[in-house]
Amino acid sequence: METKLIQIKYPKTPCDEELMEGAKILREGGLVAFPTETVYGLGANALDEEAAKKIYAAKGRPSDNPLIAHVSCMEEVYPLVSWVPEAAKKLAQAFWPGPLTMIFPKSGIVPYGTTGGLDTVAVRMPSDPVANRLIALARVPVAAPSANTSGRPSPTTAQHVLQDMAGRIEMIIDGGPVGIGVESTIVDVSVDVPTVLRPGAITMEMLEEVLGEIAIDPAILGPMAEGIRPKAPGMKYKHYAPKADLTLVEPQDGDLENPEGIKRMIAKVQELAEEKIAAGYQVGVICTDESRELYKNGMVQSIGSRARRETVAHNLYAVLREFDDRKTDYIFSESFSEDHLGQAIMNRLSKAAGYHIIKA
Ligand code: TXA
Ligand code: MG
Repeated sequence: METKLIQIKYPKTPCDEELMEGAKILREGGLVAFPTETVYGLGANALDEEAAKKIYAAKGRPSDNPLIAHVSCMEEVYPLVSWVPEAAKKLAQAFWPGPLTMIFPKSGIVPYGTTGGLDTVAVRMPSDPVANRLIALARVPVAAPSANTSGRPSPTTAQHVLQDMAGRIEMIIDGGPVGIGVESTIVDVSVDVPTVLRPGAITMEMLEEVLGEIAIDPAILGPMAEGIRPKAPGMKYKHYAPKADLTLVEPQDGDLENPEGIKRMIAKVQELAEEKIAAGYQVGVICTDESRELYKNGMVQSIGSRARRETVAHNLYAVLREFDDRKTDYIFSESFSEDHLGQAIMNRLSKAAGYHIIKA
């Protein structure tokens, strides 16, 4: 199959003519990758089981891993869900459209092929103007996982999507690099106490402010203990993985506000990198704008500024992909504190590292 690449001229104000063909492909059961404010998505008609199957095939994704149904406005939510809990109304009011996914009890029209056999459905209303308008024009809810091959870092540019999906899907819509860079926050609102299943740019602090009480699925805090099943099935897979062996280094007491701790962490990253370089390996170092000058050896890449963590989220997957392209054997990375957006950053980095974290 030839993959058509469509370039959106002004991604903040796309025109309908640019999106019509993609919308038609979606409505007719084909696959279209498109930008969202978080990462690029691989879309298909969420109400068409056959279309959903094509997504699993193109990504090489296990079919028990459910998809998120994307909508463009509130009216499109109601047909997909059997009821809208009070907490969902508040969160929708505060954060939609935006980088928040909510889990609802599903209605009869959503096929089990989209929900991975579950009686719940994940719904998200993206704020990205290209995504939002494309979904509205398609006139169907759009199931869209991240547009990467299963297990690879999520795509944050159309070029990343092309690397993974060329020849496998009908169309890629290029709206430029995404803004946020990590996937949406997932909150299960189908239970008594709303529970975060995946951290993202809508942080615990922001959710708490709107809801008061909010719980967090233990599976996102650390490696999964035997027998514990994460509530978001996707969280059990080794996700976000670079090809290289990634190790995170953090200060002994975990205190990343303390300059002494940061110094020890940097020295440890250097030491570990030098050991592997001496043994003849290709070694990558993930540092920050603040520490860039302190590293002398290895392929040193800044992931962003420790003082502006939105830059770290934004660059995270692109940096991991770049190390893949450079055939890196080992990557050693600095850590980040886990408050605010740091929770999403550390969740993705620790998973990519298979929870291999060394204390300094
Ligand atoms: O930011 C995002 O959410 C991106 C963009 C494209 O919108 N999409 C995305 O989709 O990250 P995906 O498929 O890569 O991740 C969806 C996650 C998976 O971990 C899946 O298991 C979980 O959502 N999920 C989907 N439906 C669910 C459900 N009914 N109950 C629990 N978890 C669900
Ligand atoms: Mg994904």
